[in-house]
Amino acid sequence: MLKKVIQESANGSSQQAIEHESHYVAKNYKPLPVLLTRAEGVYAWDMEGKRYLDMMSAYSAVSLGHSHPRIIKVLTEQAKTLAMTSRAYHSNTLGPFMEKLCKVTGLDLALPMNTGAEAVETAVKAARQWGYMVKKIPQDQAEIIVASGNFHGRTTTIISFSTEADYRKNFGPFTPGFKAVPFNDIKAIAAAITPNTCAVLMEPIQGEAGIKVPSKGFLSDLRKLCTDKNVLLIMDEVQSGLGRTGKMFAFQHENIMPDLLILGKALGGGILPVSAVVGTKAVMGLFVPGSHGSTFGGNPLACAVGLEALNVLEEEGMVENSAILGDYMLTQLRGINSPLIREVRGRGLWIGVDFEPKKVSARTVCEKMMAKGILSKETHETVVRFAPPLTITKEQIDGAIATFKEILRELEAG
Ligand SMILES: Cc1ncc(COP(=O)(O)O)c(C=O)c1O
Repeated sequence: MLKKVIQESANGSSQQAIEHESHYVAKNYKPLPVLLTRAEGVYAWDMEGKRYLDMMSAYSAVSLGHSHPRIIKVLTEQAKTLAMTSRAYHSNTLGPFMEKLCKVTGLDLALPMNTGAEAVETAVKAARQWGYMVKKIPQDQAEIIVASGNFHGRTTTIISFSTEADYRKNFGPFTPGFKAVPFNDIKAIAAAITPNTCAVLMEPIQGEAGIKVPSKGFLSDLRKLCTDKNVLLIMDEVQSGLGRTGKMFAFQHENIMPDLLILGKALGGGILPVSAVVGTKAVMGLFVPGSHGSTFGGNPLACAVGLEALNVLEEEGMVENSAILGDYMLTQLRGINSPLIREVRGRGLWIGVDFEPKKVSARTVCEKMMAKGILSKETHETVVRFAPPLTITKEQIDGAIATFKEILRELEAG
């Protein structure tokens, strides 16, 4: 039956397939009107065979490029050998993957999960547990400081500390124990810390808020503040991590170390949901059997793919490419003289072009880019992001920028 439905959609047009999808799928997203059927490297194709350059990388999940051959090879071999055990048993893939994660991050212990939001939840639990067991915060009084404009996922606890009204509306009651302060404001964080504060949880660069890069020195000041006040520093690098910003991790731009690091998206090699929390022994060593878990977290298939994703990132120069071509792309985009653009922000291959809200919507720009074969997605009303796979070439970037300039001229002409 399912095969028949897929076949029927496949025989129709993209438009028919989109209508079919919208008939059965809850509308918790507003995708661009493009229906993809195939992808390889930096390109994706729609049902009619039109090719698109992917400037979105599935919110950084596809940082290695679509269907990377080494990932596909490991995936298929592992699927045939041992795909799923649950953590009721040991497997020969979990140890090597967690060892690699600890070595790449410079931290001591890792805990595997599946999605980014689950890993954020894990970090929240780890920090609270440390607060009660080590810092001796009175039970149920632990507080975590977060930033306004944060995005850490969509579970009920995570939206409890979102400052976006749209993410919260109709979903209360919320989990207590979080305090939001302005991002990039070290004084506000210092003022918010109390004896009950167990952690500060932040994205080192705010992604969904519109690629907001903090001032130079903010992360090192934050590290120092947390150490001085005996508060854990949790960096959510689900989107910024694994090469996206031109370093393996964004916190490395300021030579600091978090106590807990949250990873996801690209960790699954663009194929599977794989996430993890990596941290110091002092914090992660407090988990005991039963205190946390996930049926699929750390399954052999995910571990094999995650390990190979880290190997590929290191061995194929993707982080360096992100640094070099990210700088190049940022310079090119900043060099565009257009009354429509308010600001261009970014680091590595993660750039947001912020448009003048009264002049054009970011959605319109994305739709026009799509029509000309470039895929991106707006964040909020005004920001168009450029976050291609880290394998992109200079020529491909030049082509995308030429098309982007054409679109700007068309929009300027009204
Ligand atoms: C910084 C950050 N944390 C957490 C998440 C949630 O990840 P997931 O959608 O895999 O749950 C995201 C997703 O965009 C993110 O950008």
